[in-house]
Amino acid sequence: MSVIEARDLRRSYRTRTGLWKREKKVVEAVRGVSFAVEQGELFGLLGPNAAGKTTTIKMLITLLLPTSGSASVLGHDVVDDAREVRRHIGYVFGGDRGLYERLNALDNLRYFAELYGVPAREQKQRIGALLELVGLTGREKERTEGFSRGMRQRLHIARGLLHDPEVLFLDEPTIGIDPVGARELRATIGTLKGQGKTILLTTHYMFEADELCDRIAVIRAGELVAEGTPATLKQRVTGGHVMEVETFGMPESAVAAVRSLAGVSTAAVEERGQAQVLLVQVGPGAEVTSAVLGCLGGVNVGRVSSREPTLEDAYVELVSGQ
Ligand SMILES: Nc1ncnc2c1ncn2[C@@H]1O[C@H](COP(=O)(O)OP(=O)(O)OP(=O)(O)O)[C@@H](O)[C@H]1O
Ligand SMILES: [Mg+2]
Repeated sequence: MSVIEARDLRRSYRTRTGLWKREKKVVEAVRGVSFAVEQGELFGLLGPNAAGKTTTIKMLITLLLPTSGSASVLGHDVVDDAREVRRHIGYVFGGDRGLYERLNALDNLRYFAELYGVPAREQKQRIGALLELVGLTGREKERTEGFSRGMRQRLHIARGLLHDPEVLFLDEPTIGIDPVGARELRATIGTLKGQGKTILLTTHYMFEADELCDRIAVIRAGELVAEGTPATLKQRVTGGHVMEVETFGMPESAVAAVRSLAGVSTAAVEERGQAQVLLVQVGPGAEVTSAVLGCLGGVNVGRVSSREPTLEDAYVELVSGQ
């Protein structure tokens, strides 16, 4: 039995649009998603904005009913055994809502510990350990209204762990957190995995997914388009290499010409400081350097280099393909 199982999950939303909100529109947010997460695994759900990640998570944590399909956590059905599911899971959404601003961090945690039914004699020790885990020891007596975004996010994580859940859902946990804080948070997530928790994570940071995840599923427009370990995704998508060409004043027509070359999977321009860098994903075994440079006649060309594909390259190709 897998710890998390989604079987052909679907969810649509009915919304009202138009001037007087008279027109009804149906948004198919999740369109038949299936995957399984095993015990102790850290599974990443990646995809562009509006792909359906949060909707999928909300169904798994029993906050939203599926339109069709089914899902279970630790063998409990998310619709029929919602109570049982809730007892075993914790979740953290990126953002800073849901704390009591007038209370300090400690009282916030005490309040939620009470709410989650953490036995009174365990509360003190549990809260102390969690404050330590998220790096808020020493700040627990301060009101949360004075907390920075990163501190709030850490407090959210502590809150999500109060009842010592076996399964964790982290929806963009590092959003809005500074690089040092985000790195610490990734270490914390690593520690939780080390404790044997099963974790489902979403993030828009590909290096983060690469660093943390055992397996990844990529979702686009409500459907899974790829699944595998970070390493297999990188290989599967390009198998080749990425050519980087520094240019100045690159016209879109030249990018289009490069894109249509044989052996080129995709090409895109990235701004880096003063320069623009043309990123060309080259298929396995293809040699395109002179053909690419041929397309750039009249464009100022700087350094040309080649590198291994990153997870971000793989991701860009997966979500931009048709
Ligand atoms: N409550 C809602 N009512 C109507 N439409 C919704 C609602 N929640 C989400 N949607 C729509 O469902 C689709 C999927 O949204 P969802 O929040 O699951 O995406 P996401 O992958 O989490 O995106 P992001 O990366 O931006 O967080 C979007 O088109 C969104 O507009
Ligand atoms: Mg989301």
